Formats: sequence, C-alpha cells, structure tokens
Amino acid sequence: RFAPVILAGGSGTRFWPRSRRARAKQVLALDGDDTMIQQTLMRLLPVADVSDVWVITNRLLDKTISEQLPMISPDHILSEPSARNTAPACALAAFLLEPTEPETVIGIFPSDHVVANVRRFAEVIAAGVKVAAAGENIVVLGVPPTRPETGYGYVEQGAVTETIGDIPVTRVKRFREKPDKHTAEKFLAAGNFAWNGGIFLWSARTLANAIREHVPDMAPLLEKIAAAHGTPEFEAVFAEFYPQCENISVDYAILERRSAKGELKSNIYCLPADFDWNDLGSWASLHEHLGENDDSNVLDGATTGLVTIESSGNYVYAPGKMVALLGVEGLVVVETPDALLITTRERSQDVSKVVRALHIDM
Ligand code: GDD
Ligand code: MG
Repeated sequence: RFAPVILAGGSGTRFWPRSRRARAKQVLALDGDDTMIQQTLMRLLPVADVSDVWVITNRLLDKTISEQLPMISPDHILSEPSARNTAPACALAAFLLEPTEPETVIGIFPSDHVVANVRRFAEVIAAGVKVAAAGENIVVLGVPPTRPETGYGYVEQGAVTETIGDIPVTRVKRFREKPDKHTAEKFLAAGNFAWNGGIFLWSARTLANAIREHVPDMAPLLEKIAAAHGTPEFEAVFAEFYPQCENISVDYAILERRSAKGELKSNIYCLPADFDWNDLGSWASLHEHLGENDDSNVLDGATTGLVTIESSGNYVYAPGKMVALLGVEGLVVVETPDALLITTRERSQDVSKVVRALHIDM
C-alpha cells in the first residue's frame, strides 16, 4: 500500500503580489489551468489510490484546498494549528498510519513543484515505493544539479545497488541541507552530487522510528494527536500538542543526521528524478519554466497584446492589459488589482523581503 502525503503549508512569499497569505503559491495556477496542488495530486493518481492520499496544510488554506481537491475526503485534509515546518507534518502522517498499517509506504510530496514528464514521474515513484517497502529504507530523489544553488539539499551518491527496469538505485553517502555557496560549488564540481528533489519515501514504521530516534521529544506529542484522529476531541488535541513540536524541517531532523563516526545513520537510497523537475521558487524560475530561453519575453496571464522593442528576458504578468516593452532587460513586472511589483529577474529571490517590509497580511 502506498499513501502519498502532500505538504501544502508553505507560504510562498516570493510570489507576491499574486500569492497572499490565504492564497499561497500551491493554490495558484502558475503554469496552465490547474493549480500547483491539483497538478501534484493528478500526477500521483497513476500510482496511488485517491482514498490513500493525505494533505497537510494550515487553517488559511484548508478551505481553498478542499474546494480544489473535492475527491479527497475531509478527514484526510489536516489543518495545522500552527506551522512547525516539515518534520512534524511528516511525523504526523507516520504516527497516524503506523499503529494499523506499519508496512504502508508513505510518500512525502511538496505541493509547489512542476514536473513536465508525468509518465516518467509515475515510473520512478513506483520503483521508489518498492525500495522503501523492502526494509528500513529511506528513498530520496536526486535531481541533476545545474548551478551551485544554496536553497536546496544535496545528496552524495555512492555505488549503484540495484537497477529497477532502467532506473538505477544508488546508496547515499551523505546528505547536506542548504550548504553555503562555497560548499555548493565544491559539490557541483565533484560530479557525484544531486539536488534533493524534496520527495521522500519510507514505510510508516521506518519514518516513525526515525522520529523516535532523532527527534524523541516529538514522538509522544504526535502519538497523542494521532490517537485522537477521528474522535470529537481531535481538533482540541491537535491544537494543544502540535504547537509544542520542534520547528524543524525533515531534512535537518532526519536526513542529515550522522553517527559519531560521521556515517549517515539511516539507509538512504537515491533514485534519479529524471522527469523534468522544477521547483518553482521565484518569478525568475517561472520565467525559466515558461520561456524558451533566457532572452524570451514572457507575457503571462492571458494579456491582450505585447509590443516589444529592443527588450529581452522580461517576465510580465498583467492580465487584461496591453503591454509594451521598450529598451528593457531582465525585468519582472507583476500586476494584480491592488498591487504592482517591479523588480528584476536577478533580485526575484528577494521578493520575500518586500512582504516582510510591508508588514501586511500579504
Ligand atoms: N504542512 C506544512 N507545514 N507544509 C509545509 C510547512 C509546514 O509548516 N513548511 C513547508 N511546507 C511545505 C511547502 O509548502 C512545500 O510544499 C514543502 O513543504 C517543502 O517546504 P519548503 O519550505 O519549500 O522547503 P525548501 O524548498 O526550503 O527545501 C526542501 O525542498 C528542496 C527542493 O525543493 C528540502 O527538502 C530541500 O532539501 C530540497 O532540495
Ligand atoms: Mg521549496
């Protein structure tokens, strides 16, 4: 059995002004007609039964998500009383399933990625589920790195241990979350590092045991919450104990942990994420995803007309407007009914600073 858990509690501030607190990027249609979370669910359906899917989000987004995913039953959409990052969210899934179905493979899926080759995605996930089901294994997916990105985790790949169909499985020697620039450059040069794709597969028992071992204080809190699931007390128990969990990501809490000898504590295996993965992290990455190349002008949001004169590499979102670009390069312009953002592609990582500076409810 395979139970995908979609994580959808992030705020996505770098997509301001399109994203707002109650309209984070996972519920926006940034590429195409479906929202990011709808795309996430759709590409899982070839490998999972929809009744086995869980969504973990927050109270600002839960209504919108239930509307966007009507096929997921309400008791499988969990709404965190406060955001505690990804480790408690993953752990909650583990403690919910472990008592009755410890062998079920839990898959952790971010809700804000794009995958171009959904057929390959399904093949790789199916193979990963097999590896995860075969023992106390953790499966990660490795994306071929193209730049010394500091916003991702890195996976050092060792020997190939088996091949499933045409999919090689490698043993992971080291996991390093968000290294500094210098370290990221070294990893890139070394050649045997992949970016962590943010997807994890492990049995409910393996994940629950990893929490007990690496973040022991979290385990009893989540056991209490899980035991109350489906009872009238659930909301109250969730609200009391969840905020007491440590605020930490699953990458730091579990994947990166090593023994005193410097070895990884867990059996981690890596499968290639060779399905055209893109973490839509900023306006610049959306430009990259939608445009043909760096020089393309991308006019987004069904705008009426575009005139460009001696301009290249711009991203403009201005629904219903005629847009003219004259002698500009690398700009990001995003217009919504009540806000206007003007920045450059280069600075688009810093849009979260705008949100912080505005001190508003986004
Ligand atoms: N429910 C819930 N609660 N979901 C959350 C929370 C939370 O408190 N915080 C984040 N999420 C969701 C986000 O919406 C996203 O879908 C996913 O969990 C991952 O969180 P991010 O905050 O986007 O993580 P990241 O991008 O910094 O790093 C992770 O992903 C990278 C690849 O995109 C790590 O796993 C890196 O190692 C990895 O390279
Ligand atoms: Mg992310």
